[in-house]
Amino acid sequence: MELQGKRIVLGVTGGIAAYKAAELVRLLGKRGADVQVAMTEGATHFVTATTFQALSGQPVYLDQWDARMPNAMAHIDLSRSADLILVAPASADFLARIANGMADDLLATMVLARDCPLLVAPAMNRQMWENPATQRNVAQLLVDGVQLIGPDSGEQACGEVGAGRMVEPEEIVEEVIAFFTPKLLADRKVLMTAGPTFEAIDPVRGITNLSSGRMGYAVARAARQAGAEVTLVSGPVGLQAPQGVTRINVRSALDMQAAVMAHAATSDIFIGVAAVADYRVANAAEHKLKKDTGGIPPIELVENPDILAEVAALKDGPFCVGFAAESRNLEEYAQSKRRKKNIPLIAGNLIQEGFGGDDNRLVLFDDTGVHPLTPAPKSVLARQLVEHIANMIGRA
Ligand code: PMT
Repeated sequence: MELQGKRIVLGVTGGIAAYKAAELVRLLGKRGADVQVAMTEGATHFVTATTFQALSGQPVYLDQWDARMPNAMAHIDLSRSADLILVAPASADFLARIANGMADDLLATMVLARDCPLLVAPAMNRQMWENPATQRNVAQLLVDGVQLIGPDSGEQACGEVGAGRMVEPEEIVEEVIAFFTPKLLADRKVLMTAGPTFEAIDPVRGITNLSSGRMGYAVARAARQAGAEVTLVSGPVGLQAPQGVTRINVRSALDMQAAVMAHAATSDIFIGVAAVADYRVANAAEHKLKKDTGGIPPIELVENPDILAEVAALKDGPFCVGFAAESRNLEEYAQSKRRKKNIPLIAGNLIQEGFGGDDNRLVLFDDTGVHPLTPAPKSVLARQLVEHIANMIGRA
């Protein structure tokens, strides 16, 4: 419950993405936030206040002249009690109004009267977004300290394609969590690997493993939420890169090694979460192997480079963190990998608990000893690992 105890005023303005704000209320509530919805008149043409009231469990505010507050000052009272005002979707018209300090409806007045931070998730047609007037307003809002979430690019409700789509509710929630996360890795460059590698046998077949990338992607997200600039070198997985993380897609261990070594010297921290194949096929076929050419094709294996050990051996290289997935003797094997690769910290997990799935059990091994973490969702463990790293590098 990352947002437990946080009071968020969610402003909803007029646009087709307003229907996604209903899901946003639900997701924020699931993470523990107390959500108070305020709508512009335009938003009520897309979704009713009843929907938001049912999902938030709170009365919805629409009108500047709403007299429900004892002092009849909803715009002051609602913003004073909030930890954050989030406007999603934020229309072009709304951005223009708040960039100019207007107070012509309840939500704009609340924004002007606030003494808490403001996040906005713009949503509009691509031409409206690209219009110099909107860009001027956005530039002004950034100067004023307003934080922008998106917009994304893609297909729009009007059928056009371009920038202006509201960021999806799940990602907006992650941005809100990021906003409240202590910036333990501020100004740090984190380089990471995640997922499996794929070692080709022929153009369609290969050797790989069951890593889903979930653990690595959770660590990438947690590091970015802690303020780091994150580069994620990812093997083939079906996951979306977390907002604000730079992803480099690779396939084989050699590709992964090349991408990592191109960035390692300029990184502060390297975290190897990938399940890198120890061997690759030396005699990979250029064309698809045919069954009827006689006999079982011989597959010759050669050892892959140990990427983590190579980064750890760099002079003045980054602080290195490894992972170890074992089927037994977790402590013995993880500690031996830590010593062999000469790294200060390794996170051990059992293969039956670590591979795939949303949950895991991690045990951290470092010079000070053994630190078992309570079994939890990978997102929670990833945050604990980031805190441990920040402690070790003297940032927490
Ligand atoms: O992706 P998920 O489904 O969420 O699963 C997560 C996970 C189980 C894959 C993850 O938590 C994990 O344990 N990753 C490491 C897997 C492993 O067993 O690695 P290893 O023991 O082969 O290697 C130890 C360390 O050296 C790892 O940090 C690995 O990235 C690194 N390594 C290994 C071989 C190699 N050639 N180069 C490396 O850098």
